[in-house]
Amino acid sequence: MLTSISRIGKIAFAKAAIDWNTDLDSILEILLKHFDSFNGNGFYAHPNEVQLRTELARVPALAHFTEGLLGLRTHGAVIYNLGLAGLPEDRRNAALYALTLMLGYPTSTDQRTGRVAWDVRARPIEEIDGRFTTFSERIGSADMHTDSSFYPMPEEQFILYVVNAARCDGGHSLLVDGEDIFEALQRTEEGRKAFDLLSTTPVPFRVPAIYAAGDNNVEVHVAPVFGPSRRPGTRFTMRWRYDSIKKGLDARPDLDTPELRAALALMNEVAEHGAVRFKDQLPTDTLMLADNHHMLHGRTTYTDERRHLIRIRISDVPNAERIGPSGVVRD
Ligand SMILES: [Fe+2]
Repeated sequence: MLTSISRIGKIAFAKAAIDWNTDLDSILEILLKHFDSFNGNGFYAHPNEVQLRTELARVPALAHFTEGLLGLRTHGAVIYNLGLAGLPEDRRNAALYALTLMLGYPTSTDQRTGRVAWDVRARPIEEIDGRFTTFSERIGSADMHTDSSFYPMPEEQFILYVVNAARCDGGHSLLVDGEDIFEALQRTEEGRKAFDLLSTTPVPFRVPAIYAAGDNNVEVHVAPVFGPSRRPGTRFTMRWRYDSIKKGLDARPDLDTPELRAALALMNEVAEHGAVRFKDQLPTDTLMLADNHHMLHGRTTYTDERRHLIRIRISDVPNAERIGPSGVVRD
C-alpha cells in the first residue's frame, strides 16, 4: 500500500500504491446511503459518523491505506500518487472524506455551509476587501502557524490534498516540528526564558473577521502557546499564529507586556528561520497529513491562481463531544 518509504526528521515520505478498483464505487455507495446531499461536494460532519466509520472500514483499499499511514507513526506524512487525480469532484472529495473519517472525525470548516472539505485557493480580491483575512483565501505566503489556534479545541490533525500544484516557482509547503522549535529555543538563555514564559502565560489569539460574528466584532481566545502534553512521548501541545496574537494583544492591552512581546518575537524568528524545516513543492495528487498540535505549517509565496488544494481538519473526538466553535474555522 505504501512504497519507497523514507524519513526526514519527524516527517515520513512514501508513494501510495492503492488498488482503488471498485472501492471508489463502494465508498460513494456507502456515502450516498448516509448523506441526503453531498453539500456541494464539501460533505458535512455526519451525525452518525461513528457508525459510518465502521461501515467504511470494510472497504479494503481504505482499511489497508489507513493501516499503512498509521503504521508510519509520524508527526507528518507526505504521500505521493494517491490515485485520485482527474476524478470528478464528488468522487475525489468522497474518497478524501472517507479517508479522513478513518483517521478521526472530520470537522466542519464553514459555519454557514458546514462543509468539511475546504478549497484552498485564491478568492477574487473584491471578496476580501481589506478584512483580516485568512491564509487559505489568498495567494502569497502563509507564515508558520497551527490551524484553529484561536479556538478552544484545535483539531489534532489535518490533511491537504493537491488537486493542482502551482505552476510557478512558489507555493512550497513548509513544516516545522515542535521538537525542533524547542531545541532552537533551548540554545540561548533568552530562548529558554521565552519558552518558559510562553508555556505559562496565556496569550490572546484574535479570531479572523471571516469567522467572527461580524466584521466589527473583535473576538479573542486566550491560551498559552505551549500547552500541556496530551500524548505519551510528546513534550507539549502547541498553538501558534503570530498575526492573530499581535492583533489579540492590540485588543487586550491588559495582557501585553514587553517581556511577552520579546518572547513572541523570538518564537516567530525561530518558527520562520531558526528551526530546521521541510520545504517542498508538493506535486498534484499528493496527500499531506500533519499533526496540528506538534507541527507548524506554512507556505511560500505563489502567483499561480490555479493552485488548488483541499483541506480537511480531523478531530480525535467525535463532533458531538467537541466544545466551542472550533468546528467552524477555515484558516
Ligand atoms: Fe493553515
